[in-house]
Amino acid sequence: MSYKDQIDLLKLPRHIAVIMDGNGRWAKGKGKLRVFGHHNGVLSVRDVVEGAGELGIEYLTLYTFSAENWSRPKFEVIAIMELLISTLNKEIAKLMKNNVRLNAIGDLNMLPDKCHKELDNAISKTAANTGLVLTLALSYSSRGEIVQAAKKLAAKVQSGELQPADIDEKMFEDNLYTGGMPNPELLIRTSGEYRISNYLLWQIAYAELYFTAKLWPDFRREDLYEAILDFQKRERRFGMTSEQVN
Ligand code: FPP
Repeated sequence: MSYKDQIDLLKLPRHIAVIMDGNGRWAKGKGKLRVFGHHNGVLSVRDVVEGAGELGIEYLTLYTFSAENWSRPKFEVIAIMELLISTLNKEIAKLMKNNVRLNAIGDLNMLPDKCHKELDNAISKTAANTGLVLTLALSYSSRGEIVQAAKKLAAKVQSGELQPADIDEKMFEDNLYTGGMPNPELLIRTSGEYRISNYLLWQIAYAELYFTAKLWPDFRREDLYEAILDFQKRERRFGMTSEQVN
């Protein structure tokens, strides 16, 4: 039986976050430039987005470009931005066909104008879609996200709109870039690295972590389904005892 057939559709994680890692090593292993890995990574993105939507996952959030990634060699940064522009442009029709709503989180003003425009265009064109919400984390830093939420709330306190005592976890969460989205229940990282790398630090407080040695360009929807099956076998206790949750 395929992994997909074994999944309990009534116990799907609502939100899956992915750290797509290993593009560079995948390309290097084939004697190619790192950028070749990013290009092939797009094929994985396409397959995983389709696979997630087909299964009925509500939210998929992909770590596409971190704030720290700006420090990579200029050639690679430009190549990734160009890849983003061309992919967004090419994929809009498919996103529409698959009823996917595109979203983005991060310090988006850091993106080159052309990239920002292409992103805004894809986001507005897909805004009325009702299927999977696909969020790209771009120029994203989780610590940066937490600091900007603190600044927003501090400004409201300063203007008298809010009292410090009014601030609770829910309000803080609503002021993150992901405000309004459920927290990820499953976080997948590819390429055999066991790190979180400044990704959704607040939001993954209770997420199940899944690590695979597969490099991102080799990851396909069947791998996603395998991760979901693994997730479904785990007992999520949220600080309670096993007896309490059962
Ligand atoms: C991590 O691999 C990957 C990235 C920093 C870029 C991810 C981008 C894509 C998959 C393509 C664009 C995506 C979309 C959604 C259009 P790495 O370069 O860190 O690999 P390494 O750890 O082997 O060096």
